Amino acid sequence: MKTLTTLEIPEAKKIYSGKVRDLYGIDDDHMLIVSTDRISAFDHIFPNGIPGKGVILNTISNLWFRNTPFIPNHVVETEFDKFPKPFSEYPELLKGRSVIVKKTKRIDYECVARGYIIGSGWKEYKETGEVCGIRLPAGLAMAAKLPEPIFTPSTKADEGHDLNISYGTVASSLGETLASQLKEMTLKVYSHAYSLMEKAGIILADTKLEFGLMDGKLILIDEVLTPDSSRFWDKSSYSAGSSPVSFDKQFIRDYLDTTSWDKNSPPTPLPAEIVEKTAEKYREILARIQALFAEK
Ligand SMILES: Nc1ncnc2c1ncn2[C@@H]1O[C@H](COP(=O)(O)OP(=O)(O)OP(=O)(O)O)[C@@H](O)[C@H]1O
Ligand SMILES: [Mg+2]
Repeated sequence: MKTLTTLEIPEAKKIYSGKVRDLYGIDDDHMLIVSTDRISAFDHIFPNGIPGKGVILNTISNLWFRNTPFIPNHVVETEFDKFPKPFSEYPELLKGRSVIVKKTKRIDYECVARGYIIGSGWKEYKETGEVCGIRLPAGLAMAAKLPEPIFTPSTKADEGHDLNISYGTVASSLGETLASQLKEMTLKVYSHAYSLMEKAGIILADTKLEFGLMDGKLILIDEVLTPDSSRFWDKSSYSAGSSPVSFDKQFIRDYLDTTSWDKNSPPTPLPAEIVEKTAEKYREILARIQALFAEK
């Protein structure tokens, strides 16, 4: 299959083009989400994509949506063969990488759960001893397991980087009721997936969820527990204090840290071997998650 970084469906209305997904309007309440093969790191989209990535992300999200029965989600139709016109006329663009979803009023915060201290959490902890206003035990090593999973929301910045914020900030903007529901749900999804992934030899270090409101009720939207939104570590080689072997976007970030790119200017294409190695990581995590649900 061809690597797909951009797509045009002239008869349909593109309502948004994100870093990875393109959204097409269907009617007032529904839209089509297409996961392309685009990859972003440090909030920049690369000129070249990762072959197979969009289909993998879509497949993984759909599996998790189906297997988190305790929270409603936005999925309406995952089967391409049931898509309406004009989408049904574009199998080469859309098949395997698209879903019809409920259009919701998105909650403009990223709901992050962390069970381990790494990434922006680790950076904040080293500077302040806290993450998102939560004080953590002193002396934690990089990638250490936290005493219990924590809710560490961040802003969804239209431009620039997302910022870690405290639970209190979310509560004063959305109200205590909604904020506590977001926190509870995020931690519940994390714990549920954490125990399942453990069986697949994977540590789910952290994950980012997005929620929307539909008739006043909270529903899970966007992508769930994918290698773009989560850190998946190899359990057998994990050891606190060093950067774990991962099956997610970390491979790209580590590579970029070895280059002279300043992370502010438009990035140059990723080299072929980095693209292939990344594609392999995505295929590996897909296989592990598929195996998990195939057993049941
Ligand atoms: N059911 C839904 N209702 C409303 N918005 C949704 C829904 N599902 C996903 N979205 C939004 O669609 C977009 C998906 O695009 P993508 O993941 O590529 O964007 P992104 O670059 O991560 O987005 P953003 O720039 O908003 O962070 C996101 O903005 C996401 O919040
Ligand atoms: Mg996104």
